[in-house]
Amino acid sequence: MNEQFKKDILQGLQNPTQKKLPSRYFYDKKGDALFQQIMALPEYYLTRAEMEIFETKTAELIESLGFDNQNQFDVIELGAGDGTKTIHLLKGLTNRNIDFQYLPVDFSLNALQGLEKYLKQEIPNLIIKPNNADYFKALENIKKDSRIKIVFFLGSSIGNLDDEMATEFIYQLGSHLSKGDKILLGVDLKKSKDVILPAYNDSQGITAEFNLNLLDRINNELGANFDRSKFVHNPVYDEEVGMAISYLKSLCDQSIVLDGKIIKFTKDELIHTEISRKYDDTIMRKILSKTDMRWEYKVTDSKKFFANYILERK
Ligand code: AVJ
Repeated sequence: MNEQFKKDILQGLQNPTQKKLPSRYFYDKKGDALFQQIMALPEYYLTRAEMEIFETKTAELIESLGFDNQNQFDVIELGAGDGTKTIHLLKGLTNRNIDFQYLPVDFSLNALQGLEKYLKQEIPNLIIKPNNADYFKALENIKKDSRIKIVFFLGSSIGNLDDEMATEFIYQLGSHLSKGDKILLGVDLKKSKDVILPAYNDSQGITAEFNLNLLDRINNELGANFDRSKFVHNPVYDEEVGMAISYLKSLCDQSIVLDGKIIKFTKDELIHTEISRKYDDTIMRKILSKTDMRWEYKVTDSKKFFANYILERK
């Protein structure tokens, strides 16, 4: 892990055209806690919008996902987190006597244990089988049983991937499914810059802290010497494309040392740290056209800020 981390960071910082740090490394212990705080921010509408869908459109979701009392289902959630959204659906399924088991998958054993405890308390009859594994390894193991599979990938997690990577990801998911299986994909929708940019540049500076924490992590785990007071959080939103991009901007000419290598930054130079892709139907169609999944249904919140697309394996 540490070797891969070092390799990825060095490669990103030595990129001659644009320095980059992969956003997947945000999530150390501190980063997890900061992301929890981000989800509660007044400006970060995404989590609340998707929560509204799960709370108010439970029946619509259950129906359009094709749950019935004849078949057995696996509800697989990739990156399950704290379960506060999913619980509404799980309760709905339990109340309808649907024959299902819930299979949350997460890299964090800690998150999974908390989730299991919470759900067992709230829904005593729930059959829950947590899976602390890589998404595709988990799917590989689940593939063998003959139940109908419904895969949840919520929270706009796919937004951190560019369209090419998102296509590949959905294609790979599809290859682990059988005809008629479904994916419930939560994505943030394109909208005005006035709404999106503050979500990535909150007034309390939590998102800035989240971005800068990556420099601390590189210092702590790889022995680098970033001076975080010489960088600032610099998010932008391209309304035309529908993409929020976060950068760290160097406030002066400076250099750091990592693994014996000197890396130079000029004043105002940007390090690319994260993309947050915003979707619309056209983008979704284009991505799906290169996969085995077809668009079946779409549910949005009352403000049409966020969507849960239901995709079916062809
Ligand atoms: C976890 C990818 C959904 O892009 O909105 C939040 C991460 N970054 N604030 C997003 C994030 C800065 C988040 N996702």
